[in-house]
Amino acid sequence: MSLNFPDNFLFGSATSSFQIEGHPHAKGAQPSIWNTFCKKKFAVKNGHNGTIACNHYELWEKDLEIIRRLNLDSYRFSVAWPRILPAGEGPPNEKGLDFYDQLTDRLLEYDVTPMLTLYHWDLPEHLQAKGGWAHPQSPDWFANYTRAVASRLADRVPLWVTFNEPWVFLHLGMVTGEHAPGYRDPAHAAMAWKHVLLAHSRSVETLRSCSESIEVGLACNISPFIPASSDEKDIEATSRMEAYHNRLFLDPWLKDSFPDVADHAFGRYTPAWTESERSEAATEIDFLGINYYSPNRIAHQSDTFLEVGIRPPKPPVTDMNWEIYPEGLYEVLEWAFERYGPLDLYVTENGCAYTDSVGNGIVKDNRRIHYFKNHLEQCSKAVSDGIPLKGYYAWSLLDNFEWSFGYEKRFGIVHVDFSTQQRIIKNSGYFYRDLITSVKEGK
Ligand code: NOJ
Repeated sequence: MSLNFPDNFLFGSATSSFQIEGHPHAKGAQPSIWNTFCKKKFAVKNGHNGTIACNHYELWEKDLEIIRRLNLDSYRFSVAWPRILPAGEGPPNEKGLDFYDQLTDRLLEYDVTPMLTLYHWDLPEHLQAKGGWAHPQSPDWFANYTRAVASRLADRVPLWVTFNEPWVFLHLGMVTGEHAPGYRDPAHAAMAWKHVLLAHSRSVETLRSCSESIEVGLACNISPFIPASSDEKDIEATSRMEAYHNRLFLDPWLKDSFPDVADHAFGRYTPAWTESERSEAATEIDFLGINYYSPNRIAHQSDTFLEVGIRPPKPPVTDMNWEIYPEGLYEVLEWAFERYGPLDLYVTENGCAYTDSVGNGIVKDNRRIHYFKNHLEQCSKAVSDGIPLKGYYAWSLLDNFEWSFGYEKRFGIVHVDFSTQQRIIKNSGYFYRDLITSVKEGK
């Protein structure tokens, strides 16, 4: 495979706090909405929860050794807000910050560039009790939290992501109820949409005031949407879904325009915007992170939200039943560059879940190798075609807590035995390490 990447291209891997850390009460921390959600009957497969997860909170040094062995250029992790501001507000918990401080120092010692995500869905439960993202003060809560983290780490962390996949926590958390906080409340979702839009811009402003040298961005999940037929109604349903999923946040942030689909989605709850709020939401960032997994096939369906029906994927699929379509990664990169550029791009997540078996201490996950190889080829093509793609993060470093699927779905390039917490680098991990080495040595 011949790949074309610039010298300073960052090959990394990503995780998030709730999915790997465990220990929600350590050193003064308090629970997040996901700790609460996991206690709800039938919310998470097999009743799994994040109390221990990968025990990364205790085993972080071992995990960073693995990062070093894998020869990664960069590591994307998230900070758990409830460790930093356990009650959501007030003075920061220095002991909570210490954890990420030492993690950052060790990464730098290993010559691994940290990319820090501020919000990967673990809102402090105390803030949810006040109304969560629907509360008008939530943008300020987020700005305060940003200040607490940046005051400690902006001198050493060069890459900052404010929100991870805002559409997912809005839609699954408040429209369908499949994720925390886990309810179906269109009024609440509509307000949360507005407040997250403002929270990002206040967070960016705060970050810029803490350091002039950092780069600030976002990570959004972007998918190609494919009409199930050439029927006009299916095509219209597809473009509604595309606007709702791909542009609900990005258009206001990066184009200062509000997609019509917001009115359709929120109806009479669509929030009012003043001119100054609108222009506050529109914010310049340094890079856009794209999380890409699969395309979606759409048909018109009259009895559903947005009158959109999701149609079955075309094989081959992963264990998530997500269609495998590597060219889609190129398509979304090209789309993002054309629509929102000029702007640096990162693939902040890409990966697949498969059931792996361990034999003699080896995990032969050939399907995952294949998946990464094909998607990295699309990244290389994007770079060759002049798309300013600066890095790629494999999701995920470790098998971990896959939200409502619990520990059943394994995305890691490192296998985790959740009963012993033993880690085994999968063959896909070795494949990635060798690819990174050959790309860097090929220069
Ligand atoms: C995107 C999310 O950011 C991450 O938390 C999740 O595990 C992966 N998708 C796979 O579903």
